[in-house]
Amino acid sequence: MALAALLLAVLTFSLCAPPPVAGELASVEHPVEEGRPLRLLIVGDWGRKGMYNQSRVAAQMGKVAEDMSVDFVVSTGDNFLDDGLSSVHDRAFRDSFVDVYTAKSLQKPWYLVLGNHDYRGDVLAQLDPALRNVDSRFMCMRSFVVNAGIVDFFFIDTTPFQLKYWTDPGEDHYDWREVAPREAYIEHLLKDMDGAMKKSRARWKVAVGHHTMRSVSAHGDTLELLQLLLPVLKENGVDLYINGHGHCLEHISSRESPIQFFTSGGGSKAWRGILRPNDDKLEFFYNGQGFMSLEVDADMARAIFYDIHGQALHNWSLSKSNRQQVVQCSALVSQE
Ligand SMILES: *[C@@H]1O[C@H](CO)[C@@H](O)[C@H](O)[C@H]1NC(C)=O
Ligand SMILES: *[C@@H]1O[C@H](CO)[C@@H](O)[C@H](O)[C@H]1NC(C)=O
Repeated sequence: MALAALLLAVLTFSLCAPPPVAGELASVEHPVEEGRPLRLLIVGDWGRKGMYNQSRVAAQMGKVAEDMSVDFVVSTGDNFLDDGLSSVHDRAFRDSFVDVYTAKSLQKPWYLVLGNHDYRGDVLAQLDPALRNVDSRFMCMRSFVVNAGIVDFFFIDTTPFQLKYWTDPGEDHYDWREVAPREAYIEHLLKDMDGAMKKSRARWKVAVGHHTMRSVSAHGDTLELLQLLLPVLKENGVDLYINGHGHCLEHISSRESPIQFFTSGGGSKAWRGILRPNDDKLEFFYNGQGFMSLEVDADMARAIFYDIHGQALHNWSLSKSNRQQVVQCSALVSQE
């Protein structure tokens, strides 16, 4: 009887995990060479077994990564479409990642956040360090910090913010294990982010999440992030917020703070053909596939969007010392 009660207690405990508590975010020290600019590529919304031009984007990424000699790659989420990974043995891990991003120049750490589609599979599998036995590049966590010399990157798990996934999931199932209840999770996450940002001594702060803050494409703005997360980024002087979710490339500058919004979500399926302006300043929009590069030194940040032919579509730079922003070649605000 006592044993049965104990078993039941253990079972109940593991079935409803305690709400997450606030604490320090996991942080990763990315080794950097003193005096050399930091260089990386950013891609989002990609895992489709090479289809929808995923392989062509990957091939161009390989070329640009080689020319730039990148330090690492960032993924803005929706790593495996449409339903995340089903287990650590899911073939999609090889078919959509290992066997697609094969260029030597891309054999660097990949720091990844989860997107809403990743939450439709077994999230714990995608977060499982066992995946690194298959491919050591894959560094996916919910929310974490990467310290890379003059830049600190803040990776933020944005899917739980979007209320409709909880209240109106329709046919889709979201794996909220270790997340629910939503309010406590978000409260702790915002507190931890704020703490980590306040502690940061890096010259540049870059935040990365899956969901848009400002976007002119299909999903538009994410109101929950504008309400809850943006104030934390503004208060802590975050320079860039980079996301995926919108299957396009876009750059929007805020009219009320220096923060720049970049969407790099062109990793595979694109061409949605939707452009709905909002009241911030649209610097660039491309409706097709591609990716983004970022180079940062003590004074300058430079971002370039590339299409699948390797053409630079939008060159942007910002000087930290005089906050001077330069857009050199914004060939198009294109819808095709
Ligand atoms: C692949 O890219 C080419 C060139 O941008 C485009 O014409 C074509 O529609 C794309 N295919 C898909 C499936 O998106
Ligand atoms: C944009 O950047 C690319 C890659 O560095 C370069 O080849 C191109 O000349 C740049 N374009 C402009 C107008 O600065």
